[in-house]
Amino acid sequence: MRIRDPKIVAKFAEMHVDLRPGKVLADLTSLGIGGTTDLLRIKNHEGLPDLLKLLDANHIPHKFLGGGSNLLVGDGELPWVVLQLVRPEPDVVLDGNFAHVDAAADLGRMITFCAKNDLGGMEGLIGVPGTVGGALRMNAGAYGMQIGSYVREVKLFRAASRKIEVLRGNQISFEYRHTSFAPDDMMLAVILELPSKPYKEILQGIRICNEKRRSSQPLGQKSAGCIFKNPPGASAGRMIDELGLKGLSVGDARVSDRHANFFVNAGQASAKDMLTLIADVRERVQKTYGVSLENEVVVWNA
Ligand code: EPU
Repeated sequence: MRIRDPKIVAKFAEMHVDLRPGKVLADLTSLGIGGTTDLLRIKNHEGLPDLLKLLDANHIPHKFLGGGSNLLVGDGELPWVVLQLVRPEPDVVLDGNFAHVDAAADLGRMITFCAKNDLGGMEGLIGVPGTVGGALRMNAGAYGMQIGSYVREVKLFRAASRKIEVLRGNQISFEYRHTSFAPDDMMLAVILELPSKPYKEILQGIRICNEKRRSSQPLGQKSAGCIFKNPPGASAGRMIDELGLKGLSVGDARVSDRHANFFVNAGQASAKDMLTLIADVRERVQKTYGVSLENEVVVWNA
């Protein structure tokens, strides 16, 4: 979707919004898949309510993009614009055991920065690409931990009220890869309370998680992490593997040879290829195991 009205474009500048016309979203997602639309880069959280008023008044639909690492975007000209926060400097400020983190902060860099200041707890998420906001909205987790356990306060733009709100940690429910945020709420900032731990000890944990991840996941390839959530008490990856589906392809969309719940873009895969592969694998798992796998990856298909 293209915004051409010069009156609207002029207002963006007043709102500290940087318009990048005709962005190819394949360049902004870890899967390397996605069509074209206008990207609005937001330099100031406080301008969001006015920006949304402007978009609503002009019937311009939008979506919020974090780091693009758990996302499958449709092909071609997209029927909505994309809003993304600009990362401020600094993006993490420490106050004792509390880390005040901007949602646009890079997750891995935040974990390393806190570790260097003897704050741990987040070691399991090292190596997971994306922003802190993205990790927060889906309650990212790995190796027995999840980010939600450390959340004390969240500042967000509420889609329903079109206002910026602050929630305490106990007002949010964090479940397995799910939170009580609405799908179109936008995370702005978070306060994490992290346990004190000597850097050397955290580093050891980080090394172990890195090693486990390297040995079981296709890290060098274009993917969105796990495609399906694990059903209760089972592993989607193991089921897909047991069905002999590693290497199954639709165009360049391919079930990873290393981890069967990672689907990789081995070249020029389209969203259509990837969605066809997802539907095919889901159907085969359903047929054999009677389990309907739920997407873990977020799909923006029109
Ligand atoms: N397995 C296979 N074949 C495969 C993949 C896995 O047999 O191709 C087996 C493994 O041998 C193991 C079991 O399945 O016995 C579980 O595998 P793994 O330890 O890799 O964990 P997972 O359940 O597949 C989950 C998360 C990952 C997270 C890891 C580590 C989900 C959907 N996946 O994977 O998160 O990194 O545990 O904690 O919850 C993600 O969220 O995108 C993600 C990759």
